[in-house]
Amino acid sequence: MKKDIIRKFVALAACLAFCTGTSCGKVERPDDKENVTVSGNDSTTADISETTADASSENQSEVLTIPAATDENTSKTATNAEGEELPVSGQPSEGTSSYTASGSPSPQTTSGTGSSQTPSGTASGSQVTEISLTFYEVTLPVGGSKMPMVTMSPATAENKGEIWTSSDEKIAAVDSLGNITAVGEGKCIITVKSDDNPAVSASVQVTVEAAKEPAVADGVTYIEGILIANKTYALPASYNPGGLTNECYSAFMNLVSGAAADNINIYCSSGFRSYESQQYIYNNYVAADGQAKADTYSARPGHSEHQTGLAIDCNIIDDSFTGTPEAIWLENNCHKYGFIIRYPRNKDHITGYKYEPWHIRYLGVEKATAVYNSGLCLEEYLGITSQYTY
Ligand code: DAL
Ligand code: ZN
Repeated sequence: MKKDIIRKFVALAACLAFCTGTSCGKVERPDDKENVTVSGNDSTTADISETTADASSENQSEVLTIPAATDENTSKTATNAEGEELPVSGQPSEGTSSYTASGSPSPQTTSGTGSSQTPSGTASGSQVTEISLTFYEVTLPVGGSKMPMVTMSPATAENKGEIWTSSDEKIAAVDSLGNITAVGEGKCIITVKSDDNPAVSASVQVTVEAAKEPAVADGVTYIEGILIANKTYALPASYNPGGLTNECYSAFMNLVSGAAADNINIYCSSGFRSYESQQYIYNNYVAADGQAKADTYSARPGHSEHQTGLAIDCNIIDDSFTGTPEAIWLENNCHKYGFIIRYPRNKDHITGYKYEPWHIRYLGVEKATAVYNSGLCLEEYLGITSQYTY
């Protein structure tokens, strides 16, 4: 209750501090009554500015845990704090980008790299006789990671435990869940064996490429032409496009129209935020929740994508948005309009932020589609980190 009052006070104060000008239209969110300003201009940028704090602090505590694969088909699952089961990735794990696994998704029973191996004379019944993976080859940049889904057969096997190993941990490491992380350039083999029947295995051929080189211009970092703002890469306090960029704004308008054609109502709840706005919002979250927690959902000033003019928070900015038709539509369609879900579920350890189904980032259709198809978050796709050094 106390936090609720603090949050509403923060929102009101933020509104008073940043909502200026007579064109300020207010949209009241039903859940928390925080006010949002939406205004436009015809200059080089479109101004869709937020006047509120970001996600509801009360709902920031979703904890995702990935248990060992024990369900019927051994595909990975995650659970939230309430114990509800969530898919590990809302995006397909196979795709067409250069960082996407390739190869047949069906098991190959011949021996050799990139296949599953089924030994002759293997016991049947409740013992594992075959392992299949969703991919058998993957190319990752240094720092990138990807996890194949595993199916052990027969489905009736009682022990579907997995034992993962790497042929060269200097090239790629793998954890007990099968999450493959690229360490250094080169090729190696990642193998999963059945705990129940170690003679049964499947393997992934991993190629690790050099991470993309960042280019810095006026203190702003670009990788492959993509402007980066995360916990590692900051923007100068002076970086201020004045609102959403025209390109982002037009793309968002197209997205809104496309969604409407599917009977989905998408609107902007937070667009551009200046360095100073973010500072105000972040400081208030720190005061309410402490810095460690605030850092899981709110960017420090200079580190927010909202300062780029290329990010938009859609609709309801809290966990109640998760799983709504609007959130599902965004997840499945926003890349067609040039956006990605920037902080996907189960990537918090990589992006540095908890799942935000409402936060979309403009990359352009080609790049957004490549990232979407890869099943990777932007950090993984580019092979970069998102970690504060202070
Ligand atoms: N909520 C995102 C991480 C931001 O504050 O920019
Ligand atoms: Zn956001």
